[in-house]
Amino acid sequence: MAQRLAILAAIFLCGCPSDDGPQIADLTAPGPVDMSVVQSKCPSEVPESCPDTVPSYANQVAAIFSQHCFPCHTTGGTEASVPLDTYDNVFAERGTILTQINECLMPSDGGAPFPDSAKLTLLTWLVCHAPNN
Ligand code: HEC
Repeated sequence: MAQRLAILAAIFLCGCPSDDGPQIADLTAPGPVDMSVVQSKCPSEVPESCPDTVPSYANQVAAIFSQHCFPCHTTGGTEASVPLDTYDNVFAERGTILTQINECLMPSDGGAPFPDSAKLTLLTWLVCHAPNN
């Protein structure tokens, strides 16, 4: 009996946030994005909420992915298993992308220098729930 309780307690305790990897920002829920679950090793620049002027995927965001996330994240790149070359591919990874940029893990070394303006545009678009606009 005590043993069974100990096992139950262990299962319960394992439900707590673990140390294996960063928590992914949840962009599937509507409304403001809760970034409190995501720990960043660098100062976070994620906007608190979506501004009135939402960055356009077609006119701004796609070009940033193409300049700063290719050639690694496309067919033949070093990270072709996470392709970021179409809207659908990007949308599917949006929570992970927000977390990776927020943690200053991406773009990884070897990419073009990542200007703050491009970073802010991407983060703002993600906080606006990554629309196909
Ligand atoms: C120089 C190559 C390179 C560039 C440029 C690059 N990445 Fe990556 N990316 C990688 C590699 C290699 C991995 C897998 C290893 C890792 O996680 O570090 C990766 C992993 C990822 C992952 C998956 C992480 C996970 O744990 O599942 C995401 C999301 C990601 N990158 C997003 C981006 C975004 C967004 C950009 C552009 C702003 C970008 N990357 C630019 C090489 C690159």
